[in-house]
Amino acid sequence: MDPVHFLLVDDLEENLLSLEALLRRDGLVCLKARSGDEALEILLRRDVALAIVGVQMPGLNGFDLAELMRGNERTRRIPLIFVTAGTADTQRRFRGYEAGAVDFIYKPIEADILRSKADVFFELYRQRQQIAAQRDALEAQAEALRRADLRKDEFLATLAHELRNPLAPLRHGLDVLLHAPDEAKAGEVLAIMDRQLAHLVRLIDDLLDVSRISQGKILLRKERMPVQEAIGAALETSRPMVEASGHCLSVELPDEILWVEADLTRLAQVIGNLLNNAAKYTPEGGCIHLAARGEGGEAVISVADNGIGIPAHRLGDVFDLFSQLDQQGGRAGGGLGIGLALVRRLMALHGGSVMVKSDGVGEGSVFTVRMPLAQPPATLPAQPPAASEAPAAAPLRVLVIDDSQDVAQTIGWMLEEMGHDYRLLHDGREALDAARAYQPDAILLDIGMPGMNGYEVCRMLRRDERLGSVPIIAQTGWGQEKDKASAAEAGFDHHLVKPVGFRALEALLASLAVPDARV
Ligand SMILES: Nc1ncnc2c1ncn2[C@@H]1O[C@H](COP(=O)(O)OP(=O)(O)OP(=O)(O)O)[C@@H](O)[C@H]1O
Ligand SMILES: [Mg+2]
Repeated sequence: MDPVHFLLVDDLEENLLSLEALLRRDGLVCLKARSGDEALEILLRRDVALAIVGVQMPGLNGFDLAELMRGNERTRRIPLIFVTAGTADTQRRFRGYEAGAVDFIYKPIEADILRSKADVFFELYRQRQQIAAQRDALEAQAEALRRADLRKDEFLATLAHELRNPLAPLRHGLDVLLHAPDEAKAGEVLAIMDRQLAHLVRLIDDLLDVSRISQGKILLRKERMPVQEAIGAALETSRPMVEASGHCLSVELPDEILWVEADLTRLAQVIGNLLNNAAKYTPEGGCIHLAARGEGGEAVISVADNGIGIPAHRLGDVFDLFSQLDQQGGRAGGGLGIGLALVRRLMALHGGSVMVKSDGVGEGSVFTVRMPLAQPPATLPAQPPAASEAPAAAPLRVLVIDDSQDVAQTIGWMLEEMGHDYRLLHDGREALDAARAYQPDAILLDIGMPGMNGYEVCRMLRRDERLGSVPIIAQTGWGQEKDKASAAEAGFDHHLVKPVGFRALEALLASLAVPDARV
């Protein structure tokens, strides 16, 4: 905290020095003036907590000074203590009070009295300083809240806009199919709807990821794996977007395997976000280069584009949550300003980092992520069988329990498409009877249901000896780790988050149907 200042005014140096010595304490600075004029000059420059003024001085005497101080807005509230050699002369005293004096001290000065009086003003001033500091802090907080509120409004507007974007083609596509279910167009319409739905799901996943990471709720499922695997997965998801924009994509991977301790899905998400950005912020027909190498004990992956680039003064902002630069020339495609914030946080969770370089607007950008290399595993894992070699799944009897008829029915159709048999049920309370009658090979069970929720249904089914070992799959909107844990505890074998994709469901059922497939 800033020191407290007292002003001491006396024409005799030795009086000033003895006053100063008498008042000395931590946090106090005494400003000494040899005349009324000099005191006024100091008061122009400094706020003081107290002025101790000798009454008799040549030129401007103490009372004159006090009157001048009272006439000035800046100095009129400064407490004054007059030091006078005279006795308590009423007339003088009166003049003193009229001029706004607070107190008189008589010479010879009694040190204790002066000090205790001065202390009161020191403490008062300190409290005022503290109150002012608290006021400043509150004002800063209010300002930060105002800004956050503004950002929140902007964000909600962007969010609404971004969610409507994929919803519009879904609505239109459906309308087209409803009104003119003409075979020729259907394929194209469905492909669009499929793409837009995937985009919608990604937006929502990103949003939830960000909130989970900032609450420290994301747990990485790390395993020792080749960086190349994450790159492959990312390329698989991002290639369509890159190619749709007419960009050429080159990939440069080292011959040796770069082993890392990583969560495959998350690392692929990081690389995928960088690839998507490169595609999005590069005018049509650009070039994107993805490279990986080992360097100084680290795996280094970079994604370079020759797109719109980033101005030097904004390089530091791109990783902030919800930050989107107002750039011209990028390809339409909006977004929420979450991608890079996620990249940074996920890399931090991997003990790594991300950085960006750009020579400016129109000069392209390079994003580089780094993370520690791991030791290669002692024995190399056996090559998993390629998907096409997996034996075809045997048909299963699947009981689908979901209070939403639409969800249940669409899942039923997917099961039919996969060649399985199914029964639909919309009330958990009927589950036991239905399961005993149908004898399913697997049960797909919703969790949030009125009447009896999925946990209760699952426990009830688990208690039945004849159904004891039927795999029960949770399919639910609740996707957090704690939800998965509760599901496992209630006796679920698997957990799928809605919307359940065709491939994910197909693969899971295949693994149930052919228990030997993975051996
Ligand atoms: N390769 C790039 N070239 C130029 N600018 C980029 C590039 N990547 C990101 N940016 C800028 O940084 C901003 C933040 O990127 P980020 O990926 O976080 O959000 P977004 O792409 O706008 O939306 P989201 O990824 O959430 O869909 C972008 O809006 C864009 O302005
Ligand atoms: Mg992005």
